[in-house]
Amino acid sequence: MTDRPVPQPGIMTIAPYVPGRSSAPGKDKVLKLSANESPLGASPRAVEAYRAVAERLAIYPEGSSRALREALGEIHSIDPERIVVGAGSDEVLHLLAQTYIGDGDEAVMSQYGFMVYPIVTQAAGGVPVIAPETDYRADVDALLAAVTEKTRVVFLANPNNPTGSYLSAEELDRLHAGLPPQVLLVIDSAYAEYVTAEDYGVGISLAERAENVVMVRTFSKVGLAAARIGWLYGPGHLVDAVNRIRGPFNVSVPGQAAAEAATRDLAFTHALREHNARWREWLTGQLGTNRLRVLPSQGNFVLVLFPDTPGQTAGEANAYLLDRGIVVREMGGYGIADGLRISIGSEDAMLAAAAALKDFMDGK
Ligand SMILES: Cc1ncc(COP(=O)(O)O)c(C=O)c1O
Repeated sequence: MTDRPVPQPGIMTIAPYVPGRSSAPGKDKVLKLSANESPLGASPRAVEAYRAVAERLAIYPEGSSRALREALGEIHSIDPERIVVGAGSDEVLHLLAQTYIGDGDEAVMSQYGFMVYPIVTQAAGGVPVIAPETDYRADVDALLAAVTEKTRVVFLANPNNPTGSYLSAEELDRLHAGLPPQVLLVIDSAYAEYVTAEDYGVGISLAERAENVVMVRTFSKVGLAAARIGWLYGPGHLVDAVNRIRGPFNVSVPGQAAAEAATRDLAFTHALREHNARWREWLTGQLGTNRLRVLPSQGNFVLVLFPDTPGQTAGEANAYLLDRGIVVREMGGYGIADGLRISIGSEDAMLAAAAALKDFMDGK
């Protein structure tokens, strides 16, 4: 007997997710490079679509996000019946964990994998099992070696946040081929729109042909973080199971409308990708010449590793940047205390961040 309600086992062992800062002490305005948001804002067509539904706020949404699923089906040449839409891909990840992970079951994830995976696993009563990475990159053999009889799910962000590294389509096939058929491979392609590597595969073809693969996507990185829209594409049996626990009206009308318009605005997605590729390469080059290690990234961010020399550490760099109103993401929570993750932003933001870090490293 206890004198108050007690959370389920596992819940209180969850380390709460700490989002990136959005402000700096004493600054009215900051350059926010801490949350991998779109460097060019939202698609103007998505904004227009969002506004256009303002008169319909009293009416429930179409519960299955049908129009959005149909747009996604058209644009990605996939079956809309095999799509489930959620309030952000965080909700989609929770739904998958609730559906497939139970008490004591294990979910395998990579050492520096996205921090929501252990949370959704523990929330479902499961146990996260961490596979070591090789130089900040997921290691297929280590992931496979971590699989046991208790494994129900393998979570992989591809490319990964916060490292920016990725597995090629061939490596992904090898990972899948090594998994028993009852283990679900979750390919989280949150940053797919930004990938320029030619040997990358987004996961659609695997999810198309395998009964134990699901691809997860989000609109948050391409201009609609505030609208909270994510989705999955998977086999029919998975869609049927997940839809049984999905809230009947889980995605808002404005969110659905904005995401549908954004899906069809291919010119905007293209512009985002071009801008990002250009400034990702530029920032990587600039910072790399300043005695910093910048991990090669396929996302809309780069992870920068700092020396442990006093005066040049990541913690001191972060304080220096905050003082200049530049907000980046600290990596202590990921176990990368010598790293800072910097999102690719506007041209002005990139110039300011590179100049500030140069001054910092020069001891100015
Ligand atoms: C790899 C990865 N997956 C999923 C998400 C969650 O995105 P959202 O819930 O905004 O769709 C993020 C956001 O940072 C991410 O980096």
